[in-house]
Amino acid sequence: MVNRMVTIRAAEDGDAAEITEVLNTEFENEDSDFFRKYSNTEEKILKDMKRCKYYVAVDGDRIVGAISLLLGDITCRIDDMAVRKGSQRRGIGKELVRFAENLAGEHGCSIIWCTTSKRLDASGFYLKMGFTASELLPRHFEGRDLIKLEKSLI
Ligand SMILES: CC(C)(COP(=O)(O)OP(=O)(O)OC[C@H]1O[C@@H](n2cnc3c(N)ncnc32)[C@H](O)[C@@H]1OP(=O)(O)O)[C@@H](O)C(=O)NCCC(=O)NCCS
Repeated sequence: MVNRMVTIRAAEDGDAAEITEVLNTEFENEDSDFFRKYSNTEEKILKDMKRCKYYVAVDGDRIVGAISLLLGDITCRIDDMAVRKGSQRRGIGKELVRFAENLAGEHGCSIIWCTTSKRLDASGFYLKMGFTASELLPRHFEGRDLIKLEKSLI
C-alpha cells in the first residue's frame, strides 16, 4: 500500500547525509571489510551528485527512499536505489521506479536498466516492475554475481 504522505523530489546537497543512511541499507548483510571499502559516505554522495541525478522519497520531513539515475540519450541506468528498512514493502520502491521510468521516457530514453547483486535479492522486485533479467554477470564484483535487468520504455 502506498503511503499517501510520501512524495518524490529532486535531491539537494543538504540531503546527502540522509541519502547516505538510506543507500547503506544495501550493506546491512555485508561484512565489515566490504562495508568499509564500498559503503556510501556523505562525501561520496555529494561527489556522485555531480555525476548522477538523485531523487528522494520523503515521508513528512524524513527521507525514506532514494534513487540515482544516469540519463543517457538512449538508456537510463538506475545506478543506485534503496528504501529504508522500516519503510519497505509499502510501495515506495515501486513509486521511485515509476518516477524514474517517466523521467527517462520524457528524456527520450527507450530502455531503463540496472544491475543488482544476487546477494541483495532485489531482482524479484524489478521483475515485478516489468523488468527482464537480460544477463548474468558471474563473479563480476568482488566475487559477487550480478544480474542485469532491463525494461523497454517504448
Ligand atoms: C528492493 C527495494 C528497493 C524494494 O522497495 P520496496 O519499497 O520495499 O518495494 P515495493 O513495496 O514498492 O514493492 C513493489 C512490489 O515488489 C515486491 N517486492 C519488493 N521487494 C521484493 C523482493 N526483494 N523480492 C520480490 N518481490 C519484492 C512487493 O511485494 C511489491 O509487489 P506487489 O506490487 O505485488 O505488491 C527495497 O526492498 C530495498 O531497498 N532493498 C535493499 C536495497 C536494495 O536491494 N536495493 C536495490 C539495489 S539494485
